[in-house]
Amino acid sequence: MSKIFALVPAAGCGSRMVSELPKQYLPLAGHPMIYHTLATLCANPEVDIVFVVLASDDTHWHSYDWSLFGDKLQQLFCGGATRAESVLNGLMAAELELDDWLLVHDAARPCLSHKQLARLIEALRDDEVGGILAVPVADTLKRADGECRIAHTESREGVWQAQTPQMFRAGLLLQALQIAPNVTDDASAVEALGFHPKLVTSSFSNFKVTYPQDIELAELLLTQGKKI
Ligand code: C5P
Repeated sequence: MSKIFALVPAAGCGSRMVSELPKQYLPLAGHPMIYHTLATLCANPEVDIVFVVLASDDTHWHSYDWSLFGDKLQQLFCGGATRAESVLNGLMAAELELDDWLLVHDAARPCLSHKQLARLIEALRDDEVGGILAVPVADTLKRADGECRIAHTESREGVWQAQTPQMFRAGLLLQALQIAPNVTDDASAVEALGFHPKLVTSSFSNFKVTYPQDIELAELLLTQGKKI
């Protein structure tokens, strides 16, 4: 049976967070944010190794204690200029078998629950293509004009919000990211090859911490054990 690996791109600076410290290291429930992300991935018994992709000039990683995760966590200082480049560089450095599964998960989604992760693996391990955690859009969608006024209302019918982890075979993802380097998630690259990745229903709690006000919500979910 193919092995399952995880890869966490963590080479971004989080410009929308407006902070000196890169977003993944911001303090959250007693640890840097990325600690919670890595803890959930490392705790899954089906995941063999968790690779974290860091910027080559990252000066923060070694200030923290990662020993709890032992050999299951491996660091790769090969981040790129974009998320897609960081994932591609990490994928090449990890030297996986083409048939191995890879779960790519944003460092900035620390509230992923054990249940969501297990559900994704269960839903996809026999899938031909792979897929992603996602949530059907609940709100009405507005298209803005250049002056922050509503140009028109978009249909939300059949529209989903993509989350991570995104789970694909290492060989397919490698090929996809090489031909579509400007994508904002891994599924888009696989779609560009003509495939249709599966949508596995998730929940809002696995949101991406992006703006300063998101920290408080993530802290609440993590400390109250409300990850669903
Ligand atoms: O910027 P955004 O929130 O979309 O980033 C998503 C993930 O991609 C984060 O975990 C971030 O650290 C990572 N990233 C990266 N290399 C970059 C830009 C973003 O690993 N150059």
